Amino acid sequence: MKIAILPGDGIGPEIVGQAVKVLNALDEKFEMETAPVGGAGYEAKGHPLPEETLALAKAADAILFGAVGDWKYDTLDRPLRPEQAILGLRKHLGLFGNLRPAILYPELAGASTLKPEVVSGLDILIVRELTGDIYFGQPRGVRECPDGPFKGQREGFDTMRYAEGEIRRIAHVAFQAAQKRGKRLTSVDKANVLETFQFWKDIVTDVHKEYPDVALDHMYVDNAAMQLVRAPKKFDVIVTGNMFGDILSDAAAMLTGSIGMLPSASLDANNKGLYEPSHGSAPDIAGKGVANPLATILSAAMMLRYSLNRAEQADRIENAVKKVLAQGLRTPDIYEEGTTKVGTSQMGDAVVAAL
Ligand code: NAI
Ligand code: MG
Repeated sequence: MKIAILPGDGIGPEIVGQAVKVLNALDEKFEMETAPVGGAGYEAKGHPLPEETLALAKAADAILFGAVGDWKYDTLDRPLRPEQAILGLRKHLGLFGNLRPAILYPELAGASTLKPEVVSGLDILIVRELTGDIYFGQPRGVRECPDGPFKGQREGFDTMRYAEGEIRRIAHVAFQAAQKRGKRLTSVDKANVLETFQFWKDIVTDVHKEYPDVALDHMYVDNAAMQLVRAPKKFDVIVTGNMFGDILSDAAAMLTGSIGMLPSASLDANNKGLYEPSHGSAPDIAGKGVANPLATILSAAMMLRYSLNRAEQADRIENAVKKVLAQGLRTPDIYEEGTTKVGTSQMGDAVVAAL
């Protein structure tokens, strides 16, 4: 099994370093090869996604990605900006299935803005379609408005569309993820208003026939947003389109109060995937040794579960993370009085020790 290690910019190298340390502490050794990406790719090879980096990512069984971006690249042309690297990887590797768990460990219940009894023990998974929907649909642009009361004025427009195969493949990802968890799936749509999402609902209902062991329900996106903050623990797995998923997954992430704890996976049709923390490169704390590495370590655990078929090893890492939290170790972003403040590499070492 070969893993491509793409640390990127800002805190990327610091946090990925800890995840690599944890992977190296497992009994089974994986082949790992590192390549520059984002601003680091631009510095080394003149492009955020250098050819060699893309080739490595394509050849590997899974990719562990840190984060990319820094304000100092804001003046570059858009195709050369660090953030293009992640879009390029998604596109070239066909990573259409974005899995974002929102887990609130009981020890961190105080970090949430919601009442502990509402969120403590929260463990939900949002499956977001990542390469379609209104974010990519053509045509789009600014044109002269062809009709209605604003006829003749300029108007901005985008196109929402989902092909049947596109909906089927993300539905399969979601049903299979639900099978590995609580066996409940909520498909979120806006079928009352949008043709695209009535179609989505019909196709997901059809795919459900292949997964009789999973309970499926449908919910409108506005209600889903409400339920996420009212009674989030009622959900198990949520599947939705790119735009609704973008918004709902950020809202769900914030239920836990700590972006430094949240892993993610982006999968293709064969469960090859890119694994990265949900946060960015945090230039404000880069190089200070204070970044929370747990989101990246938990991303490595997801990689073992979803791409490398090593669910037991994934469990071991997740249990080790629970153990260090129970020991009271906290990086500054999750620090509370009465706990022990540690830095990035101390946290990594503690996870290794707990393993
Ligand atoms: P960010 O997620 O990097 O940071 C937001 C806030 O959270 C900052 O105060 C940061 O210090 C804190 N934070 C983030 N991760 C943390 C961790 N592991 N431990 C402790 N604190 C943490 O988002 P921001 O500031 O909007 O963007 C910074 C750069 O990251 C930008 O260039 C942006 O484009 C890029 N970015 C990259 C992503 C990726 O590589 N997939 C995703 C999101 C943003
Ligand atoms: Mg977002």
